[in-house]
Amino acid sequence: MERTLTIIKPDAVAAGHIGDIIKIFESNQLTIKAARLVSLTKKEAEGFYAVHRGKGFFDSLTSFMSSGPALPMVLEGDDAIARLRKLMGATNPANAEEGTIRKLYAQDIEHNAVHGSDATETAAFEIAYFFPGIDLA
Ligand code: CMP
Repeated sequence: MERTLTIIKPDAVAAGHIGDIIKIFESNQLTIKAARLVSLTKKEAEGFYAVHRGKGFFDSLTSFMSSGPALPMVLEGDDAIARLRKLMGATNPANAEEGTIRKLYAQDIEHNAVHGSDATETAAFEIAYFFPGIDLA
């Protein structure tokens, strides 16, 4: 069993796709262990995406991520990190495979519906960022 952090981003929350996206997780044996609807401040979004500081899209990305409610969740399952990333599809929905979450619900590379941790260490940092010290269900 492995845990990963996903975020249903403000574009997908505003478009009413929380249920659709959770349905995809649950029908692919990714179990929700924690969830929290948050309205991030710009500073909190910058802290979460600190590895991208200095990149051209950093300001726009963190403004978008603090533009409205988002839903971070801890998901658990076999090979959860890699399987979540496969279900999400490519970062840019224009390159995402048919049937993936980003193909279905994302608008562009920034407004791309979901985030998913990319490695074990990142998952540990990201889970602790939104769910510090909690006893996971
Ligand atoms: P995410 O998986 O949340 O991780 C970092 C985010 O930065 C990524 O999804 C995109 O939303 C965003 N991103 C990555 N590359 C670009 C880019 N070239 N232009 C705009 N946003 C980007």
